[in-house]
Amino acid sequence: MFYLLIILLQMKLIKHITDLNKAVNGQKKLGFVPTMGSLHKGHESLIKISKKKCEKTMVSIFVNPTQFNNKNDYKNYPRSLNKDLKVLKKLKVDYVYIPTVTQIYRGVDKSKISLNKLEKILCAKFRKSHFEGVLNILNRFVKLISPKIIFMGEKDYQQFFLVKKYIEKKYRTKVYLSKTIRNSNMVALSSRNSLLNQANLESVGLITRKLFDLKYSINKNKNKSNILIKEIKKELTQKFDVKIEYLECRNTDNLSTNLYKRPFKLFIAYYFKNVRLIDNY
Ligand code: PAF
Repeated sequence: MFYLLIILLQMKLIKHITDLNKAVNGQKKLGFVPTMGSLHKGHESLIKISKKKCEKTMVSIFVNPTQFNNKNDYKNYPRSLNKDLKVLKKLKVDYVYIPTVTQIYRGVDKSKISLNKLEKILCAKFRKSHFEGVLNILNRFVKLISPKIIFMGEKDYQQFFLVKKYIEKKYRTKVYLSKTIRNSNMVALSSRNSLLNQANLESVGLITRKLFDLKYSINKNKNKSNILIKEIKKELTQKFDVKIEYLECRNTDNLSTNLYKRPFKLFIAYYFKNVRLIDNY
């Protein structure tokens, strides 16, 4: 009896579609946390929310090649499978799905996924076909897993926005947004942070504080947003040697630049020591 209990409580590692089908069959309230591994406290918080809201929780670990517009970025993306599995075991996740590229991309998906002109902003403008790759893989996951809820982090707000729009229109699955988790220096947790050293991360902390202050100033004086953004871009470039891709305010409802009447966020993507970081405030 004791051993049976242990087996039932064990996390199931799924590598093949047949095992996946068995695991999801009959699940009415399955929470799904898609990840590319290198798990951090941000992922852990998504998993904890899923475990609270759903009967079972499945986490996928898959570095999705179709969402990388740069081969080296894909190659250098941090990977730490054994460490990740230990974290997931500790969190008592029910299922971990680790597909291979050929397995998950088997079968032609006839519906071509493309963004419209208004959606080609922020990261979509600078990372060609990135979100098409994200939507493609999530579409495949949802078809296979039929989760009740997908849990996503606010640091990738544009990703959440596009996935929610696409998935909720097509399936009964809901997409849930969960708060960005930050370290004690206010740095948003990200798998890519592992590519930076401690001193670098302290600088990222200082940059982050400046951007929180900027959001506060813009909120008080929306008419001056362009001037304020221009000033801080210059300061960050000179002081921290960052390469800013974009620094823009957009409203959270439809990501348009209309900042009046609606709540808005300040979005940034920048390179620091050749590592691409994104955040929003
Ligand atoms: O945010 C990520 O880690 C990835 O874009 C996701 C959602 C797991 C899809 O590959």
